[in-house]
Amino acid sequence: MALSIDLGGRVALVTGVTDGIGVGIARKLAEAGCDVAGCGRRDAGSGQARRFVSIVEGFGRRAFYAETDVSEREGPRGFVDASVDALGRLDVVVSNAGRNVFEGVDGCDEAQWHACMELDLASHWRLGKAAYPTLRQGTDSVFVINSSNHAYSTLPGCFPYNVAKAGLIAMAQSMALEWGPDVRAVGLAPGFIDTPGGDRWFGTFDDPAGKRREVERAHPVGRIGTPDEIGGVCVFLASAYARFVSGTTILIDGGHAANMGW
Ligand SMILES: NC(=O)c1ccc[n+]([C@@H]2O[C@H](COP(=O)([O-])OP(=O)(O)OC[C@H]3O[C@@H](n4cnc5c(N)ncnc54)[C@H](OP(=O)(O)O)[C@@H]3O)[C@@H](O)[C@H]2O)c1
Repeated sequence: MALSIDLGGRVALVTGVTDGIGVGIARKLAEAGCDVAGCGRRDAGSGQARRFVSIVEGFGRRAFYAETDVSEREGPRGFVDASVDALGRLDVVVSNAGRNVFEGVDGCDEAQWHACMELDLASHWRLGKAAYPTLRQGTDSVFVINSSNHAYSTLPGCFPYNVAKAGLIAMAQSMALEWGPDVRAVGLAPGFIDTPGGDRWFGTFDDPAGKRREVERAHPVGRIGTPDEIGGVCVFLASAYARFVSGTTILIDGGHAANMGW
């Protein structure tokens, strides 16, 4: 019999589903059989929120969307509680919402530092704390944190985003140690992925299309990644095939980090 992944009957929660990587994660988890709860700051009537619902329901799964700012202290807990009320359980959580706050070490001010740490570091901890009591009752439960390749190496002017993302590697380790064996915790470190967030960075160059071609050439696979490719890894991590994967952060970068050339 061919290997297959069937996540039917399981419930996933994904933050940041109105754009970018979160859309691909929600799509692939629904395709594999999960009901999916998703959030973003946009209201439930927005085109992006309705797109999320229609993607999930298009696979015959239940969708729940809640307008939520995960960087607000009670945001993650409110979203978890509302999702459990709506969908009944939780087996998979992907803490994905984030934003590339790109400054310099000297240019970064206090407000930028705190905004980045609240969203790109603390919000993942708060979501984990809120989800754990329900997750531990689930099946093959996993808490996935979307870090970044910036956690391992960075570029000038990408501070303090890289600092927050590096902290998420340690966060996944602590969660794995303290939540095992009930819940696994795994980090993702995507490289360049084709999203509105990625486009904002290409847009900072005089020739965004030329910069994009240059970046693509630096990838052994010859291109940047897609949100669905990150979603596929989440499906694997949610499956029984990943029962021995915990406490690590997985680099998904098309081989970019293997390239020492310019
Ligand atoms: N794209 C890349 O190359 C790349 C590489 C490595 C890691 N990542 C990481 O992947 C994650 C997603 O990035 P992306 O490129 O997909 O970004 P994106 O295209 O800008 O999308 C970000 C998503 O997160 C949501 N979001 C942002 N701030 C939020 C908040 N405070 N509360 C709730 N939702 C929020 C946005 O929804 P609303 O606008 O509706 O709030 C949107 O759905 C981030 O953690 C990012 O650091 C991205």
